[in-house]
Amino acid sequence: MTTIDEDSIAAAAAALTREWTLPATWYTDHAHFELERDRVFARSWQYVAHTAELASPGDYVTAGIGRVPIVVTRDAAGRIRGLVNVCRHRSHEVAEGSGNRRTLQCRYHGWTYNLDGTLRAAPRADLEASFERSELCLLPVRVAVWEPFVFATLADDAPPLLEVLGSVPQLMDDYGFQFAALEHRKRIEYTIEANWKVYVENSLECYHCPIAHPALTHAVEMDTEIYRLSADRFVMTHESRLRASGQGAASAGPLLGRRHGVPEFQFYYLWPSFMIAPSPGRLWLGTFRPVDANRTLVITDFYFEAGLPSETVDASAAFSDQVLQEDRALVESVQRGLRSNAVPHGRLLPESEQLLRHFQELVLRAVSEYAGTSGG
Ligand code: FES
Ligand SMILES: [Fe+2]
Repeated sequence: MTTIDEDSIAAAAAALTREWTLPATWYTDHAHFELERDRVFARSWQYVAHTAELASPGDYVTAGIGRVPIVVTRDAAGRIRGLVNVCRHRSHEVAEGSGNRRTLQCRYHGWTYNLDGTLRAAPRADLEASFERSELCLLPVRVAVWEPFVFATLADDAPPLLEVLGSVPQLMDDYGFQFAALEHRKRIEYTIEANWKVYVENSLECYHCPIAHPALTHAVEMDTEIYRLSADRFVMTHESRLRASGQGAASAGPLLGRRHGVPEFQFYYLWPSFMIAPSPGRLWLGTFRPVDANRTLVITDFYFEAGLPSETVDASAAFSDQVLQEDRALVESVQRGLRSNAVPHGRLLPESEQLLRHFQELVLRAVSEYAGTSGG
C-alpha cells in the first residue's frame, strides 16, 4: 500500500506548474519513502567507494542501495565487482563493514564466497545429492568507475554512468583537475533529522546563504548576476567567484586559488545523492544514505593535494563543516514544519529556486514512472 496513485501524481504535477512545491506528505510519509527507495534509489547510480578503498585484491566495501545491501570488491584478478550482500543460503548479510579478505564468509552457517561472488564452499553440501554450487553465486550488481569514484546501481536499464554525469567530466577536465594528485584526509558523518529531499533542496539554492551563512557569504560572491545556477538533466550546478576584497576569501582557506576562465566557486549535484565541490588542490565530496522518511545519514569527504599540513586541512574542513552545521539547523527545522502538514505546499521562487523546481520534477518523474505497476 502506498500513498501514490494517479490522482496524487496529477495533483503534485499541477502544483509544480503553479510554482508550488511537492506535497509536504511526500517528505514525511513512510510509504512514500519506501516508494522512493524503489523508484529513485534502486534505479539510479549511487556513489559507493573511492578507488583507494579498493586498491588491492581482497579489498571490499559494503554499502546499501535502497533496501538492498551490497558489497563491492576488488577480486583476485584485480577487477572491481558489485555483489548483492545477501547470502544465497538463508539471506544473512555476508560481508560486514570494509576491509581486506581472501574470501567472504557468511557468519551464519559459514558458506564461503570468492571475491567475484562465486560460491567456494558450503559446509556439509557434499551430503546433498542435488547441491549445485555454480547456481548459488552472490547476485551481481552493476558497477562503474569515473575517475576515482566507484558507483553502483541495481537497475539493469539505468543509463550508463557517463551519460548521467553529463558535462561534469568535461568541466573537471577544463578545470585541469588532477584527481590522482588528491588524498583523502577527512570524513565527517552525521545523521540529520530531515528527509533526504529537504537536504538536497537546501543544497540547490543559495537564496538562503546571505541569511544563514555569514562566513560563506563573506567569501563567495552572492550577487545574482554572478552567482549562477544551471540544470542539465541529472546534473545541477552552482558557479560563482570569490569576493575580490580578500578579507572573506582569506578566511576561506584553500577555497582560494584561481585559474583563468574557470569559476572559482563550483558545486555540482548529481541525481540523486552525489555532490562535489572542486577547488584548486581540494575536493569536497558529499553523499548521503536515506535512513527513513525523517532521517538521513550525511557523509562528507575531504580530499586535498598530497602533503598539506594538517592545520590547513583542519581549517578548510572546519569552514565547510560550519556551513553544513548551519544547513543542518535549517533542514531540521524545515522537517518539523513539513511534519506538521500545516502548509501542504510551499511557494517556490522560480528565479532563485529553479534548481529545486528541476529536482522536484525529477522526483515526480521517478515516482510516477511506474505508477500502476506496484502499490497504488
Ligand atoms: S545464511 Fe549464510 S551460510 Fe546460512
Ligand atoms: Fe546552505
